[in-house]
Amino acid sequence: MSPAAEAALRGGADGIAAINTIKSIIGVNPHTYVSAPSVHGMSAVGGYSGNAVKPIALRFIAEMGHNPKLKDMHISAMGGVESWMDALEFIMLGAGSVQVTTAVMQYGYRIIDDLKSGLNLYLAAKGLDNVEQIKGVGLDTVSDTTDVLERDTIVYPKFNLSKCIGCGRCEISCADGGHQAITLSSERKPRMDAGKCVGCHLCVLVCPQRAIRSSGRRSAPKERRQ
Ligand SMILES: Cc1cc2nc3c(=O)[nH]c(=O)nc-3n(C[C@H](O)[C@H](O)[C@H](O)COP(=O)(O)O)c2cc1C
Ligand code: SF4
Ligand code: SF4
Repeated sequence: MSPAAEAALRGGADGIAAINTIKSIIGVNPHTYVSAPSVHGMSAVGGYSGNAVKPIALRFIAEMGHNPKLKDMHISAMGGVESWMDALEFIMLGAGSVQVTTAVMQYGYRIIDDLKSGLNLYLAAKGLDNVEQIKGVGLDTVSDTTDVLERDTIVYPKFNLSKCIGCGRCEISCADGGHQAITLSSERKPRMDAGKCVGCHLCVLVCPQRAIRSSGRRSAPKERRQ
């Protein structure tokens, strides 16, 4: 998006509105083989929008917010804004204004009043006068690459065995998608090998009982540090 935004700037644009919808195919019918939506047996690629695209939109807005060539350009952000918190996130990544399409179609124009009052309450709670004061405040701590992230410590998962029902999902996920750090006891209770665990938290995510939580941050084994 940066080259396109820079080209718009060179061409005389005062601002950029982004993102648009993302070209998508909703699905394919297994009986007719036609993609959805089917219009008399034919389909077409359409635009994906709304809250599902927000993470993609935030990434693009941050990319432009990081670009020094675009620093004086007004960025009007959109893509999944439904609430004042969504709007705030875009502003913290450099947006000078936000726009809403899909959420208005879903909930009506009145959500703009909720969005404004939510932002005003947030600003008052923070002792701020206007959103300009938080524009771009989140840009310095987000990087395009993961090599800036600290690797000297690990946040290990902590198991609450009284909540555990022995479903084994943590063991399966760690074995096949993690680092083979979990084994199940004969009573189907998980045991974690701290020498193998990398703190990815996949087990925390999959546990249906919320029996796994983050523990404190601890030093990583020497061989894992950078
Ligand atoms: C029904 C619909 C029609 C749209 N029409 C246009 C359009 O004509 N031109 C355009 O640049 N973007 C159009 N968009 C894209 C929106 O302006 C917006 O960039 C996108 O939907 C992401 O924001 P949202 O998640 O708030 O909907 C349209 C979006 C929707 C849902
Ligand atoms: S945090 Fe990751 S590596 Fe550690 S036990 Fe859980 S799934 Fe396995
Ligand atoms: S996923 Fe949760 S409930 Fe299932 S075995 Fe692991 S800790 Fe127990």
